[in-house]
Amino acid sequence: MTDTLLTAEEIRSVDRKGWLDRKVDPTLDLFAEIARLKKEKNAVLLAHYYQDADIQDVADYIGDSLGLAQQAEKTTASMILFAGVHFMAETAKILNPDKKVVLPDLRAGCSLADSCPPDAFAKFKAEHPGHVVISYINCTAEIKAMSDIICTSSNAIAIVNSVPKDTPIIFAPDKNLGRYIMEKTGRPMVLWNGSCMVHEIFSLEKIVRLKAAHPNAKFIAHPECEEAVLKIADYIGSTTGLLKYTVNSPDQEFIVATETGILHQMMKASPKKTFIPAPPNNACACNDCPHMKLNTLEKVYLCLKYEVPELTMDEDLRKKALLPIQRMLEISRQQGL
Ligand code: 13P
Ligand code: SF4
Repeated sequence: MTDTLLTAEEIRSVDRKGWLDRKVDPTLDLFAEIARLKKEKNAVLLAHYYQDADIQDVADYIGDSLGLAQQAEKTTASMILFAGVHFMAETAKILNPDKKVVLPDLRAGCSLADSCPPDAFAKFKAEHPGHVVISYINCTAEIKAMSDIICTSSNAIAIVNSVPKDTPIIFAPDKNLGRYIMEKTGRPMVLWNGSCMVHEIFSLEKIVRLKAAHPNAKFIAHPECEEAVLKIADYIGSTTGLLKYTVNSPDQEFIVATETGILHQMMKASPKKTFIPAPPNNACACNDCPHMKLNTLEKVYLCLKYEVPELTMDEDLRKKALLPIQRMLEISRQQGL
């Protein structure tokens, strides 16, 4: 059995329904097929660390939000397949208006981006005149267009420090990252009250118990986690920062407070070390991002084969959102990030 071709109507409907009713021939070697299609179409597959292990294994580049934006900026491929969430693919499209950008599942959103609706943010901004707006890359193109500079968890300290000392700052949308950056830089900032559902689910009580049961383990956390969790962390950093820490540390055991996808690269880089996902405050797998996990290897294959769903955007909006992203990339370059 080979999967038959999609009709034009089916291709259009992918944007609305995702690939839910699409079956892929189970005997197909998807790894080989994806490699073949990438070559044939001169496509680059960029994947975030929170993707399934299989997707990470077929990617041309795996990284955190900053690394992915930098790769998107410099790629010479004709098509970008972005295995991540919507705001990441949107950033790639903003940087590459002439390239086709496809996302395995267009419904892969982000609770943090959703926590900052453009209308409410425009009002918030108007209530704080004279402020420089720094927005975390985990936001929509509309929020980016209302921002002065974008940042990621890798470069937020450098971006905040690039703003003259006497200039007041609005930081959006993640209040946890914002508060952490205020503490690191000593800069007061007006924070938007947004957060990530995955990083707020960790149970402090269970982490404390886990630490007691593993006294030699280092506890490492992403700055999107809540203040109480960050307070007991031995190291705080972006996904790339966390991965590098586990590689360079002489320690052998780590309790990891971020989305579980990153554990794949940690285990690959340090197969003899032990990695324990930090426990959520209930019995579900809530430290798996439900948005990131909408992408599957099957959808990556279909997306590459049919070149849908495609990310498109209004040109005026794109141009407005581009400027603050370019500022971020320039500051990161200057700082060697
Ligand atoms: P980084 O990729 O900057 O580590 O951020 C993690 C995240 O939540 C992405 O959605
Ligand atoms: Fe958004 Fe959180 Fe998922 Fe990252 S982990 S995509 S911030 S919901």
